[in-house]
Amino acid sequence: MRSRTRPVGARAVGSLEVLVRRSESGKDDRFVVESHPGMKVLDVLVAIQRDHDPSLAFRYSCRVAMCGTCALRANGTSVLACQSSVPSGAKELRLAPLAGLPVLRDLVVDPAPFFARWAAVTPYPVPDAAVSAPAVVRPDSPERRTIDPALDCITCGICYSSCSVSDEGRDFLGPAALNRAMVLIADSRDTMRTERLARIGRLDGIDRCHYIGACSACCPKRIDPFDAIRRLRRWRVTGPPAAGAT
Ligand code: FES
Repeated sequence: MRSRTRPVGARAVGSLEVLVRRSESGKDDRFVVESHPGMKVLDVLVAIQRDHDPSLAFRYSCRVAMCGTCALRANGTSVLACQSSVPSGAKELRLAPLAGLPVLRDLVVDPAPFFARWAAVTPYPVPDAAVSAPAVVRPDSPERRTIDPALDCITCGICYSSCSVSDEGRDFLGPAALNRAMVLIADSRDTMRTERLARIGRLDGIDRCHYIGACSACCPKRIDPFDAIRRLRRWRVTGPPAAGAT
């Protein structure tokens, strides 16, 4: 049976063969669904679960690329299922769980190793407790221009999954945690900047990066962890940037 994936009013333009990696068998199950213009990978999964196999496990929540829970691999590339469109004219789609994280069931992975590394960089600002009103950093300052493009991480784990160093299970903080560390070290109001630099300079830190750049190429929020790691390597030598100068 073909399943209907299209929203009300959308025109079906063909059929799509979907191969989904299943955890129980370790093999791909094959399904056929209707395709329509603008169809997202998440639409395909919902249709399969609704019309073919209610036991298929996958995660999603917000459907607008904000919560990061729907990350998976589509045709070998890590993407957000709710954001990623099925290529127009595609006849086949291969879906698998994110790489580099333990699979709980089907397309659902355990993000605990990712968040353990995120937690290792103390991912929140530590202001000076003696200062009641922190200094204002102007929106157009060099400091803000460094921080703002790196702020929108949704901790989806896609960069971590796409990083060949993390993927091999090596001891590496990974791109998301290092990007977060860069944001906090760039913030002149943070009181832990020297300690943060020492932390990311340990064996599992910035020197593990092989400068391949897959993290930046695949980030669904267009964050550039590769550039963050370059900055961190510079600051390790120069020390944390002075206020207003990054
Ligand atoms: S469902 Fe929230 S990011 Fe996709």
